[in-house]
Order: sequence, then structure tokens, then C-alpha cells
Amino acid sequence: MAKSSQATWGGRFSAGPAELMLQFSESVSFDRRLAPFDIAGSKAHSAMLAHVGLITKQERDAIHAGLDAILAEIAAGKFTWETKFEDVHMNIEQALTKRVPAAAKLHTARSRNDQVATDMRLFFKHACGVLQEKIRGAERALLAAAEANADVLIPGYTHLQRAQPVLLAHHLFAWLEMLERDRQRLAEVAAHANWCPLGSGAIAGTTLPIDREFTAKALGFVDAKGRPQVTQNSMDTVADRDVFIEFAAAGALFGVHASRIAEDLILWSSAEFKFIELPDAFCTGSSLMPQKKNPDSCELLRGKSARLQGNLHTLLTLAKGLPLTYNRDLQEDKPPVFDTFDQTAMCADVLAGTLGGMEVVRARCGAAVADPALLATDLADYLVMQGVAFRDAHHAVGAVVKLAETNGVALNALATADVQQVHAGFGDDWAQVFDLKRALTKRTGTGMPGPAQVKRQFARWRKILK
Ligand code: ARG
Repeated sequence: MAKSSQATWGGRFSAGPAELMLQFSESVSFDRRLAPFDIAGSKAHSAMLAHVGLITKQERDAIHAGLDAILAEIAAGKFTWETKFEDVHMNIEQALTKRVPAAAKLHTARSRNDQVATDMRLFFKHACGVLQEKIRGAERALLAAAEANADVLIPGYTHLQRAQPVLLAHHLFAWLEMLERDRQRLAEVAAHANWCPLGSGAIAGTTLPIDREFTAKALGFVDAKGRPQVTQNSMDTVADRDVFIEFAAAGALFGVHASRIAEDLILWSSAEFKFIELPDAFCTGSSLMPQKKNPDSCELLRGKSARLQGNLHTLLTLAKGLPLTYNRDLQEDKPPVFDTFDQTAMCADVLAGTLGGMEVVRARCGAAVADPALLATDLADYLVMQGVAFRDAHHAVGAVVKLAETNGVALNALATADVQQVHAGFGDDWAQVFDLKRALTKRTGTGMPGPAQVKRQFARWRKILK
């Protein structure tokens, strides 16, 4: 059934949209969360219109008062959102027009195309800030776990096989590096968002004498020196969705990191490893097996990463192949962005909670890292220090490992005479290599897991996360 003509664009129509079309095309059900940004944009825009004399100061003040009242109503949950007004922009403009006659001038020199681009850039600047803080929360939980277990050693793994001993803190700091890159990436996305679209109009700007720099300044689209930053091509401005994609990519990559951390935690909390005990508050039980304590928060972190990647994929596919400039397809850009924001925020909080409540089972870590085979590489290095070429040393130690296996003894329990038979380079002090503390202390280079380096990293992270 046809509806009465739309108040905002209905002039050239003799019939309104079908009910089905309204349902199909509305976005207010999800873009209403842009209201605070939309209102900020409208206030800045009307301030600019008054500044250049396109509306009076009285009209500007009436528009501002009306927008403030609407924002308060929205915040209190008292605002009535109407599907028939399509989106957040027209809902607010319609409500304002009912209260303030001057609202009929608000859309002067503006289109919903530059309006929605502005709302979203404001949203991204806000969202990146929120997510950076939440990721910082997870980072702080990691640093606290490292502080509480600063002396704990574990095996490091490659191919999920025991490789070489490391301080647990070194492993946790590897996760910190990943999360810190995510935080930096979000800061870069926010910087890319920091250009004001207003004034680009629908596609070709306006014939009216507006002041884009004024609006940009009013909305905080400024550089470090406070100079306004406005987008440089009106067509690109209303077509561009790069920041959407970058934001989703930052979320997806954070998801990959969270998922990898979660996988380590799942392994470590299993009976086979038992390096850690996960907090009850972030685990669940089985409805059938009474003994089960499942690492659900970690499994969901792994699962959410798929969803975050999906959002990125949706946006890439949405933008691909669209002719310049704005096309209504682009309305579909918001649900994946909002979902990435919501899910990334929750993932960061859950990661912080899970890491914050994690208990390290020192005895199990100690038993695992006591495996002397973890120092086989150190034994090869020992031969290198005796002047043996590394390839020969590697081969000799391989033979020693095989001998230990054949004899059914630990690597460091072999008789010195037997070892010396394998290679004459082994001195009587060969077994000193298996002193774990000594082995770690020798790793002195930047980025290595030796105690002096790890101490430096503690200082670095305390400073970054203070
Ligand atoms: N709700 C629309 C969106 O999100 C706003 C822009 C509409 N522009 C238009 N020319 N119909 O994309």
C-alpha cells in the first residue's frame, strides 16, 4: 500500500513507498546509535550557516536548543523513532522541524551523503578511542600476570613441540606486543577518520558560500596544531568507505590475536599441560559430565574472530565494483561496523577478565621445563664455542639425543665418556649446559628471554601501560 509522500524528499513523487519498501530500506533500526554524532554534526553545520549569514543567529540558537532537547529525549529513551522516516538523519530532522520552524533551513548546503560520512567519521574517532582503552585493559591484565609469575619458566613451543625454555613473562610479553600493535593500528584508523566531509554535499559541494573549515574546527576535525582538516574531493568523500574497512580490519586482526592467545590458554589449561587454571568466572560446566570445566571464554574468543573477519569481508565486498559516488548499497556498511565495534569491545573485556583471573600452576610449569632436551640447542652452542662448526655440532648433539633415547635415560644423565665418544669436543663440563638458570642468563641480546632482557621489558611495559 502506498504511503503519503515523504516530507523530506517527496516533492517529485505522487505516491509514497510501499510498506515493504519502507521495511526494506529503513536503517533507523541500526543507525539510530549515530544520533549523538548526527546531532553534533547538525549543531556544527548550523553554527557555520549562521557564521556565513545563511541563517540568523536566532535561527541557529533555536536549532541548537531543539537538537539538545532531542538528544536528551533520546538519552532518556523517550524519543519515538519512526521507520517511515528511514534513517537517523531524517528522524531527527523531522522531530526538529515539528518543534522549530527554522529547522527547515538546517539541511541548507548539506546532503545525507556528506552527513552520514561525517557521522561515521565521528563514530570511528570515538570507537577507536574506546577500543584502545579496552585493549589497554587486557594488556594491563597481562602485565599483572607476568609480574605475579616473574620467575616462572616454561617450555616455548614450535610446531606445538617443546622447543626451548623461556620465562613465562617472555611468552606473555609476546602477546603484549600483538595487542599493542592492535592499539597502535586503531590510533592510525582514528587519524585517517580525522577529515571532515561536510560541505561535499551529495556529490558536487554547493553553490552557497559555506565555510568548510569552520565546520571542521567545530567538530574537532583538526590536526595536532588545531588546524582544520577537510576532505579534498567531494566525489571521493561521499563514495569513500576506506576507514570503515580499516576499522573492520583492525578489529579482525585483533580477533586473530585474541584467538591465538585463547588457543594457548586452552592448551595450557588442559590436563595434558595444566600450566594454568582458568578462572571459574570465565568457564562453564557440562550439562552431562560433572567433572568438566570448559574454557568457554577462550573458545568464544576464537569463534568471535571468525565473525570479525566476516565483517571485514562484508565491507570489502560491499565497496568492490560500486560506481562513483554514493549508492544506496552503502547503507549496508553500518551493521558490520557496529558489530565489529561491539564484539571487539566485548572480546577485549573478556580477554582482560580471563587473563586477570588466571592462576599459574608453578609445579607443572617447573616439571615441563625441566626436560633437558629443551637445552639440546645450547649443547650444540657449547660445541660451537669449542670451535666446532654449527652443522657438525648439530649433528653430534642429534647423535647424543638418539643415544639417550636408545639407553632410555635423560639427555643430561648420559655418561660423559659415552658423550665424548660421539664427539671429542665435549669436555668434562659438558653437563653444566643443563643448568637452566645459567642457560637463560646467556640469552642477553635484545628481544631474548634472558632475565636481564625480560627485566628491561618489564620496565618498558610498565611505562607504556602506566
Ligand atoms: N541512510 C543512508 C545511508 O546510510 C543515508 C544516506 C542516504 N543518501 C541517499 N542519497 N539516499 O547510506
